[in-house]
Amino acid sequence: MKFDTPATTNPIDQLKIIGKPTDRIDGPMKTTGTARYAYERHTEVPNAAYGWVVGAGIAKGRIASMDLDAARAAPGVLAIVTARNAGKLGKGDFNTAKLLGGPEIDHYHQAVALVVANTFEQARAAAQLVRIAYTRAPGRFDLAAEKDAAQMPKADPFSGEPLTKAGDFAGAFAAAPVQLDATYTTPDESHAMMEPHASMAQWQGDKLTIWTSNQMIAWGVGDVAKTLGIPKANVRLVSPFIGGGFGGKLFVRADALLAALGARAAKRPVKVALQRPLMMNNTTHRPATIQRIRIGAERDGKIAAIAHEGWSGDLPGGQPETAVNQSRLLYAGANRLTTTRLAVLDLPEGNAMRAPGEAPGMMALEIAMDEMAEKLAIDPVEFRVRNDTQVDPEKPQRPFSQRRLIECLRTGAERFGWSRRNATPGQQRDGRWLVGMGMAAAFRNNLLMKSAARVRLDNRGMVTVETDMTDIGTGTYTIIAQTAAETMGVPLDRVLVRLGDSAYPVSSGSGGQWGANNSTSGVYAACMKLREAVASKLGFGAVDVEFADGMVRAGERALPLAEAAGAEGLMAEDGIEYGDLDKKYQQSTFGAHFVEVGVDAATGEIRVRRMLAVCAAGRILNPKSARSQVIGAMTMGVGGALMEELALDKRHGFFVNHDLAGYEVPVHADIPHQEVIFLDETDPISSPMKAKGVGELGICGVAAAVANAVYNATGVRVRNYPITLDKLL
Ligand code: MOS
Repeated sequence: MKFDTPATTNPIDQLKIIGKPTDRIDGPMKTTGTARYAYERHTEVPNAAYGWVVGAGIAKGRIASMDLDAARAAPGVLAIVTARNAGKLGKGDFNTAKLLGGPEIDHYHQAVALVVANTFEQARAAAQLVRIAYTRAPGRFDLAAEKDAAQMPKADPFSGEPLTKAGDFAGAFAAAPVQLDATYTTPDESHAMMEPHASMAQWQGDKLTIWTSNQMIAWGVGDVAKTLGIPKANVRLVSPFIGGGFGGKLFVRADALLAALGARAAKRPVKVALQRPLMMNNTTHRPATIQRIRIGAERDGKIAAIAHEGWSGDLPGGQPETAVNQSRLLYAGANRLTTTRLAVLDLPEGNAMRAPGEAPGMMALEIAMDEMAEKLAIDPVEFRVRNDTQVDPEKPQRPFSQRRLIECLRTGAERFGWSRRNATPGQQRDGRWLVGMGMAAAFRNNLLMKSAARVRLDNRGMVTVETDMTDIGTGTYTIIAQTAAETMGVPLDRVLVRLGDSAYPVSSGSGGQWGANNSTSGVYAACMKLREAVASKLGFGAVDVEFADGMVRAGERALPLAEAAGAEGLMAEDGIEYGDLDKKYQQSTFGAHFVEVGVDAATGEIRVRRMLAVCAAGRILNPKSARSQVIGAMTMGVGGALMEELALDKRHGFFVNHDLAGYEVPVHADIPHQEVIFLDETDPISSPMKAKGVGELGICGVAAAVANAVYNATGVRVRNYPITLDKLL
């Protein structure tokens, strides 16, 4: 199904099942432990051996020698895989550094060996006997030191243009009566998901199956095939349950490749879970940024000039963090400049983490907006309202498909009690606590991706959906079931959903908050095709056919779907593809975040007291799972504001705090009160579902709202995240 004109009324609009706060259909399986994750597929593969990953002990240089004798002789050892015996390996499209390093080392904890043994304990014990001598080479580890050598990268589908301009920024900024020129920094951050990267691999002849934990099945199949030099048709990836991804599992990582190589060497299925202490340096992370923002405004609060320049680092051949994305679109202003620059660093590779680009970008931009509002003596909500734009400010002929930022801001202000905020910092006390309120806009683009599915109707009237779409804990199973039930006119319990298997049609996958809208649109397209198959089988061709209550009706005739399917059943496969509607319209999601904090006047301890998010993101397919996404994102935003930081050892080039004890994230007790409001809207430009994403919108702006609340409480403006108490004293 090609989607190239705005959606009109369609079966989804019935809202009998879509739009309801349905519990997760996979919830009981998860809470009873019967949803089995990659490392737990004992019934499919009862005789799997265990792999232990050995990570490089230096950040850059070479392996001078590797002594495997003692490890090979250790009890239970079946094989040891290294770059020397793994055969010729290619490199996947989505990996920057090799997943199996050696003799050259590209980054700390790059995998250099896999020890395979009969038991987990034997593999772990033998791995301690691997002796490696390294020749260190000097590395570049400090973004600030490499900043001046940073270059504009090549444009790329994900990172976009490194330079955009409109009007005359320099002239307009110089002439503006009120100016801000400030630099902000965000640290390296880790996804720190609960389930580590884990895979189990089995070879049957030259066919490889990997049970893994991966957000993007088709990308993974391609990269496994390319790395091993085998046809894609010989690779099957299975990933029905994922214990968190946040972008860290967009791509196959060392666990998947090493499980495959280990299984080949040991002639047995092998499973590998990346050990927690390897996670931070072996896998990807959100790279640190330096961001300079200049804003020039008239005294009435209208922005005349805005520039946002971002710097980040990555390994050679890597990608920038596009922290300036939202500054191209969020506020009006005729004179504009954005740049993205990339420094070469020899750190573990940087990549996407929840709302790559906008999440760190909004951390800076929305403090800058707060600072500017204060200089102008205009309320921060009002300042944003005055600079709203209904068109892409760089390309004014392109309207937003839908943009209700002002309504988000005003609704949030009203519901949060913003009028009680004292604009002068440091004025409100509650015992030992200094209390402050802060706010920020939320913004994240809505991305369109092709997505396909297969649906079957059987003679029991059951509808089975198969697509390689993944559920990373977001509720995909449920919204896909809701979509199929609504479209086929059956109750929810008549739908079976099968996900995460490369044997199924290729979906959008889960990433960039595009999963919900695109994958359900693909299922909708397949169901519409199945409806046609039912109608044509019954000879219902020309008349209006209605699917409701498990029946198919046309005129006077009505038949249960089970009967219509016949003994053989009916099957249809289709997908959603997009025309150029999204080129004519800018598609984005909008919101507003409000936060109240207390700061201990003596110690500087910061406690979040309450939070509110208002989101405008098209049709909300399931308000319960959408709310869960947003409160999770708000919590992660607080982590970004106050806690999360990979502590960098600049001499040796590695992240020191490489486990969940040293890498702090908020827990429930850190956030006493959260509320989420969804504006009631549909976006007919986004898809037949008229939906968008919320999972990343929910994090964008949160950290700045916290920072602005801390400023309001204390009068201390912190521009370097995380806002730890030492920065307040
Ligand atoms: Mo997202 S960071 O694209 O999983």
